[in-house]
Amino acid sequence: MRMHRRRNGNHKTISAVRETSKRFRLGNWKGQVLITGGAGFIGANLADKLLSAGQKVLLFDNLSRRGSETNLSWLAAKHGSLLEFEDEDVRDFQRLKRAVHGASVVFHLAAQVAVTASLVDPRHDFEVNAGGTLQLLEAIRELPEPPPLLFTSTNKVYGTLADLDLRCNHLRYAPANGKALANGINEQRNLDFHSPYGCSKGAADQYILDYARTFRLPAVVFRMSCIYGPHQNGTEDQGWVAHFLIRATEGASIQIYGDGKQVRDLLYVEDLLNAFDLAIRNVDRTAGNAFNIGGGPQNALSLLELLELIRRMRADPCRVEFNEWRHADQRYYVSDTRKFQSITGWTPRVRVPQGLEALHGWLSRRPVSQRSETDAVLAVRTATDARSMADSALANARLI
Ligand SMILES: NC(=O)c1ccc[n+]([C@@H]2O[C@H](COP(=O)([O-])OP(=O)(O)OC[C@H]3O[C@@H](n4cnc5c(N)ncnc54)[C@H](O)[C@@H]3O)[C@@H](O)[C@H]2O)c1
Repeated sequence: MRMHRRRNGNHKTISAVRETSKRFRLGNWKGQVLITGGAGFIGANLADKLLSAGQKVLLFDNLSRRGSETNLSWLAAKHGSLLEFEDEDVRDFQRLKRAVHGASVVFHLAAQVAVTASLVDPRHDFEVNAGGTLQLLEAIRELPEPPPLLFTSTNKVYGTLADLDLRCNHLRYAPANGKALANGINEQRNLDFHSPYGCSKGAADQYILDYARTFRLPAVVFRMSCIYGPHQNGTEDQGWVAHFLIRATEGASIQIYGDGKQVRDLLYVEDLLNAFDLAIRNVDRTAGNAFNIGGGPQNALSLLELLELIRRMRADPCRVEFNEWRHADQRYYVSDTRKFQSITGWTPRVRVPQGLEALHGWLSRRPVSQRSETDAVLAVRTATDARSMADSALANARLI
């Protein structure tokens, strides 16, 4: 792996050779694939799949998310020289310009990802999510042949959906309207940005679509619901499926904000990667479009229902505490994915119990040093451990 880090001005370059598998279809694009936020949950899974197919990948990530160092060290140890890493920030236009040069495809995943954090520091949220996206678009616009670009937006751009007429039983909310119940929420919904995170991601979403329209960039927007799977370092602020499982595994209580009957559709990360692949392969038809992407009605469940699944899977009761509703929380959001399906034929394949087992298996295999997130001291130590683990994996790679 070649690695460019800016820690106190130090740059390191590390090389290694590893065998790669050709099992996966994703990849085999000419040149290098750029993934901003590539050391995060979705980025690391995407990078692994591309690298396993023999595709060269450049990760551009400032490692601000806890756990991203660990993901990076895992990728470095597994894939060696096909992987390149830039320890950089998407707010830095010059670095982005360098990174997009020669990229055959760009996945823009880097983001401030939590609504809660956006309420604490809206300016930072805006600068990374909206500002960083504009910097990337400008860097790409300067290229003679702009590569396909996929941006990961969010269902939060539709706001609280307060106008949905909902019914409620003891476990979940459900739309009274039969069509909404059967199909979910489609892209015809009015945009209605709530929370600074909703605004910054929504602004980025609109910039991407406008650059596709105005400057003819081959750019696609995925408005994603809840994605889950291995390498997700879920916290209370983001990545709630992994967070619930982590807490259950640690025997710690789970905080529910609201009554727990709010419903989301869950999409296993492997299914998302297949959708990425299809979006890029069909970019002549997907460019300039936003698509709602999620597990759909078949993979929709409430927080209470997920807790019940976890209890059954682990044969262990999990402790739950209820709190006030969170700002702008949707009572019901399920993606209607038929627009994307009609163009590409994509449907999610992994059902929730199966995906949950896979995530649980990964969590159980993690080293103890990466497990606990309940204790602030441990959290700091884990981040430090992860950073030194990443460094030693890279140092090992250099020796090979
Ligand atoms: N996971 C989900 O359920 C979900 C749902 C909807 C949308 N999304 C979007 O998908 C993308 C990826 O989400 P994820 O779950 O993998 O999150 P993640 O936090 O695991 O990954 C994001 C990565 O971006 C990096 N990053 C943050 N700020 C950066 C900056 N200024 N410069 C460079 N890198 C930076 C982080 O270090 C991290 O590695 C995000 O854009 C998120 O908004 C995710």
